[in-house]
Parts: sequence; C-alpha cells; structure tokens
Amino acid sequence: MAESTIDYTTLMPNNVGLADDPRLLRALERWYPKYLEWWVAMGPSGFIDETPFQETEVWLRTAVSVERDGWAQFDYVKMPEYRWGILLAPPEEGRTIPFGEHKGQPAWQEVPGAYRAMLRRLIVIQGDTEPASVEQQRFLGRTAPSFYDMRNLFQVNVEEGRHLWAMVYLLQRYFGRDGREEAEELLRRRSGDADRPRMLGAFNEETPDWLSFFLFTYFTDRDGKMQLEALAQSGFDPLSRTCRFMLAEEAHHMFVGATGVGRIVKRTAEAMRDAGIEDPYDTEQIRALEVIDLPLIQQKLNLHFSLTLDLFGSEESTNAANAFHAGLKGRYHETALDDDHQLVESTYPVTKYVDGGFREIDVPALNALNARLRDDYVADCGGGLRRWNRYITDAGIDFELSLPHIAFHRKVGEFADHHVTPQGEFVDEITWNARSAEYLPGDGDKEFIEVLMQQVTTPGEFASWIAPPRKGIGGQPVEFEYVQIPGTV
Ligand SMILES: [Fe+2]
Ligand SMILES: [Fe+2]
Repeated sequence: MAESTIDYTTLMPNNVGLADDPRLLRALERWYPKYLEWWVAMGPSGFIDETPFQETEVWLRTAVSVERDGWAQFDYVKMPEYRWGILLAPPEEGRTIPFGEHKGQPAWQEVPGAYRAMLRRLIVIQGDTEPASVEQQRFLGRTAPSFYDMRNLFQVNVEEGRHLWAMVYLLQRYFGRDGREEAEELLRRRSGDADRPRMLGAFNEETPDWLSFFLFTYFTDRDGKMQLEALAQSGFDPLSRTCRFMLAEEAHHMFVGATGVGRIVKRTAEAMRDAGIEDPYDTEQIRALEVIDLPLIQQKLNLHFSLTLDLFGSEESTNAANAFHAGLKGRYHETALDDDHQLVESTYPVTKYVDGGFREIDVPALNALNARLRDDYVADCGGGLRRWNRYITDAGIDFELSLPHIAFHRKVGEFADHHVTPQGEFVDEITWNARSAEYLPGDGDKEFIEVLMQQVTTPGEFASWIAPPRKGIGGQPVEFEYVQIPGTV
C-alpha cells in the first residue's frame, strides 16, 4: 500500500501499516477505550443541561488523505465517533538529518539509542499540551456565540485529540514499555490539577470565555506551530513526518483565533461608530452596547501573549542546545536558513536587562535556540494585529492594539524576577501593584465578560459582541446548522 493511502479497516485509520503490526495494533486498541473515557470525562461537555451531549452531530472535517490537496472531508459526526487517525506526511525519498552533529547522514527511521531519553522527553512534552487544551476549553460550548463558532471549537478539540494520538503512536511504536507508561500518564494528568497538573504553565491556566479562547488559539496554538515546525526538522524521521501533518491542522486553529479576535474587534469598533462614541476608554458607554471595549481586549491580549512566551523556556538553554546538536529539534525553517546548521562558532543576540536597560548581548547561538524560536514567534504574531487594527481605523477610532514588551509579566527566563510594563519600562513592586490593573484584566472585567457570554443557538445568529464571519465553513453558508442537538429538530 502506498504510504499516502489511509487504511480504514483498523480501529484507528492510519497510513503507518498498523494492520501489519498486530502487537502495536493491540497496544493501541487497548489504549483506545481509556482515551474515550478521558474524552467523555474531560472533553467538550454539557452543551445544554439534560441533552445527551455525546449524541450531538457536528459538521466536522476528518482527514482522509495526507496529500496537500483535498486532505479533508466534511460531514456530520458525533464527536465520540470521530475517526482519530494516525497520519504521517509522506516520506521524503533520501531525506538526511538537516542539522547538528549528524548533519548529512540519512535520517533515522528508528530511535538512535544514545538519544532515547531526550527524544522521549520531547515527544511527551509536546503530547501533554494536546489533551491539556481540550481540558481547558471543555465548557466553552455552553456559551458559544453561534453554531458556527461552536463547530470551530469542536473541530479544534477533536484535532487536538488527534494530535495526542499522533504522539501516543510514536511512544507506543518506538519506546516499548516506557512509551506505554507515558501514554497512560498523558491521560492521567489534568489541566489545572493541584496534584497532577499538565507539564507546562500556560496549559494549566483557565480558558474561561470566548475572547480567551480566540486569543489562546491565536497565541498559544501559534507556539504549538513553532514547536511543531522545530520538531518537523527532526532527524528522527517518524517525528518529522508526524509533525508535518499536524501543521496542516494547526493552521485552522490559528485561523479560528485570528478571525475570532478580528470579529470581536470589528463588532466593537462598528458599535462605537454607530453609537457615536469616539473615546475608546469610555468603557461604561461601550459596555452598555454589549460589546467588549478595546482596552479590555488589549489587557486580555497582554495576558495570553505573556503566558505563551513562557512556553519557550529560558532564553539560554543547554537542553535546547543538546537537542539541536543531537539532530532532534531544529530551528524554525531550518532547511531554508543559510548557515552551517551546526552553529559551532556563530552567535545570536539575546535581549537582556543589563545596567538598567535592555541590551542585545551576543551569546553562542547553540545556547540561544529558545530565544531565537521565541523571536521568530513574536514576528509571526504581527500579521493578525495589523488586520485587527484595520477594523479600528476603518471605524475612525483612535486606538491601536499592540503586543506587550517581551519582558512584560514573565514567570520564566531572563525577566522572571522583574516588573516590566507592557511598554517595556522597569518599575518597582509598589508601582507594579498599583498599576497592574491597567495592564491585565481584573475581577470586574471577568464578571462583565461572563455576563456577556450567552449561548446563541439559532443558525445564522450571533451574540451581540462578535461580528459574523465573512463566509461559512466546509462548503456551507454562515447560516448553516453546524451543530445539531438531538431532540431540537
Ligand atoms: Fe495540537
Ligand atoms: Fe492546535
């Protein structure tokens, strides 16, 4: 069978030849009911009290091919019946390790013994984020602003579930008993749990409302993209192929975020214009229109951006250096970069706080890979903001959304011990405490948003605080019934 063809005869659709590997197939089949148990307990939940939520039909795309064109097919699916598949991008003939000590050697098809522990760790950390975000988003269906948005949420959720499958496949296929244990652990940790939290900070935070959801998919899924891009370069070919296919799905998650925030900004700007409100800080008047004021959007943006930057880890990291040197995790667009891909003598400028100011200090490039990936990430974040700001200027309002300074509100790395404003000004603790309510959402803001978040379940209608999308999804118009709740037809 060609490797781009998907086999549907096994419980998990796959293009990795599961039918020919009965031991692995059995191991994955044993994991399946545990995964479903987790999905029902921790996945999308309680659409409306009393309705058999798991029976809800959702207009979802399922991957039916790993080729670039026509890889997805849309249909009504009950989420627990979604075909979570194990799908790798087609192999590249004669692929070699693109960077590090083993650069130029044939890519590994089996785990290189010396790097087993390091590789397993990379896969587990990536794998842990996938179910975590599903857990963080599990109650959002209850407050969805439309069927269109609810469907997008569920699409993101089932695909994060598939990403978990992708990592669990690698663990079970290549890491024997250790891998099976890690696969169990991935279902045992819980986002935000005091005793068994998820591995990374931002994945233990709440996603309490839809503005948070859109900012999360814009900023935090984009961290996911950067990590996947770096792992897609891996000399361990199965990991590279897995990540390359995951990236195709990830693009939709960021689309949901970028357009979601954009539609909120658009709605606010237009409501202000129509009501003749010019001052963006006239929050009382603006909130009376049942839209989210721009300063609050900026505060929520500050929060999600800073939490996400912490995911990149310390600017200088020997772990990252080792993973690169070993050929396991590369840089963003590694193969397109014009250098020796080994970084033996090169340096990279890392922003630090020195003598009362920010300075760019050259450090060995091998040690600065986290800083570099973060810098690439920050640049990648810019596009959405430019589009969002256009809605504001189009409505004739004098306000600009912007990314806060990278040192703002950090808990990891170079700036963790400092208080820095979104504008990049160092302040002492007393000043910070007095002013942080300007920078980050407060309790009153959370209450305001909570009251706004009311579920809308008439096809084609949208909550007051968000504009409709320009077009529908999966070949359907905006007013399509993207979610069918049993007993309500
Ligand atoms: Fe993912
Ligand atoms: Fe994602």
